[in-house]
Amino acid sequence: NKASIGVTGLAVMGRNLARNLARHGHTVALHNRSTERTRDLVERFGSEGTFLPTSSAREFVDALERPRQIVIMVKAGEPTDAVIEEFAPLLEPGDVLVDAGNAHFADTRRREAALRERGLHFVGTGVSGGEEGALHGPSIMPGGSKESYASLGPLFEDIAAKVDGTPCCTHVGPDGAGHFVKMVHNGIEYSDMQLIAESFDLLRGALGYEPAQIADVFRTWNTGRLDSYLIEITAEVLAHTDAETGRPFVDVVADQAEQKGTGRWTVQIGLDLGIPITGIAEATFARSLSGHTGLRAAAEGLAGPRRAPLSGAAAERFADDVERALYASKVVAYAQGFNQIQAGSAEYGWNVDLGAVASIWRGGCIIRAKFLDDIRAAYEAEPALPTLLTSGDFRKAVEDAQDSWRSVISTAVRLGIPTPGFSTALAYYDGLRAERLPAALVQGQRDYFGAHTYRRVDRAGTFHTEWATEGRPEHPA
Ligand code: 6PG
Repeated sequence: NKASIGVTGLAVMGRNLARNLARHGHTVALHNRSTERTRDLVERFGSEGTFLPTSSAREFVDALERPRQIVIMVKAGEPTDAVIEEFAPLLEPGDVLVDAGNAHFADTRRREAALRERGLHFVGTGVSGGEEGALHGPSIMPGGSKESYASLGPLFEDIAAKVDGTPCCTHVGPDGAGHFVKMVHNGIEYSDMQLIAESFDLLRGALGYEPAQIADVFRTWNTGRLDSYLIEITAEVLAHTDAETGRPFVDVVADQAEQKGTGRWTVQIGLDLGIPITGIAEATFARSLSGHTGLRAAAEGLAGPRRAPLSGAAAERFADDVERALYASKVVAYAQGFNQIQAGSAEYGWNVDLGAVASIWRGGCIIRAKFLDDIRAAYEAEPALPTLLTSGDFRKAVEDAQDSWRSVISTAVRLGIPTPGFSTALAYYDGLRAERLPAALVQGQRDYFGAHTYRRVDRAGTFHTEWATEGRPEHPA
């Protein structure tokens, strides 16, 4: 008896995916560079299903039914290339190699094209949900060929999270589409986390709330339209007390946010595609700023406003206002992220279904949220929707939130509390809805110093003003 799928790379993510597959009744071949991990998995979890442990690449490949399906779960970059090079020569046409790590979609495109030449299917797959998700039901975003999905899809849909019985897995599109969509998922994750963190900072700075009180506020929010995994875990983190010191956990953690690169990639690609994903960019830069300890030490003591926290009616309203500001900013962040997927899809001819993406993000992944069901509905009703901000319910919710949104940001500015996420989201909203933008003046400047030309509002064509002669006001002699 052979295995229907194999997993190579049995660190915690690979191990949990293998266990999840086995728990669903699939026979899973196992492989790892060092056989210790393979042995450990079988010893500890062998009773959960049928595993075929192997100790060499050859043995692993021979343990698989055809077409062979191999999930690679190793570090992105060179380790992934090394594993591909190890297995590809042992495979036969029609076999499927799946990269389930956080690879850059450009690497995935390159690998897919190279392996296609050799008759193999290469499937770059986003997998979200961390260790728990991998074991109990992640959100899965496979790219690659339609053909590969025909055999792989049923297995993945089986082990994915389910929302209302619908699996959080779909064939996102060809070649790098899966990893692209996962990258944007992570970008949105960065911006969602930043917005939640700013909300915490505002409640603390403007109201003087303790972390435990703020945890309660988040718990309440989590019963409404902000219902999401990230709000839920935020409440738990804020309610947590450090065992050693008895202080709120959040106060003993060094305030330097780290990153492994997917947020940065999202921003880089946003720049390449010319899509203003300002929410993700600010969130990524906020992490960078937090990590510049030298710069921050040098800036210590720079003057800020001298203002007391809010009191009276303003204080009473404030938490509700922050909820609205958070919601509106979140809509902007997702609107931008979905626009980036739309642009990537157009650029690479992927034909990504945005409603389907929203649907598979409803469960299993880090950004899972009630809200994503509304996004799914919006794109299902209008697949070519230019922006979520103009879609019925979102439009109304953001319009209703805007007074609170503006008031929260002005309070933050007056108190000197940094809110890059909230502020950039509002600036984007105001930029989009503006009847005229000062971009006209920028065009004038460009034409002045570089003869870069401009277009006019009143007739077609490209124009240049001879600034040296016609542009200068006549000075009377
Ligand atoms: C997920 C997560 C996960 C990722 C980290 C990256 O969807 O399960 O996105 O894939 O490893 O969350 O985050 P950092 O860049 O913050 O380390």
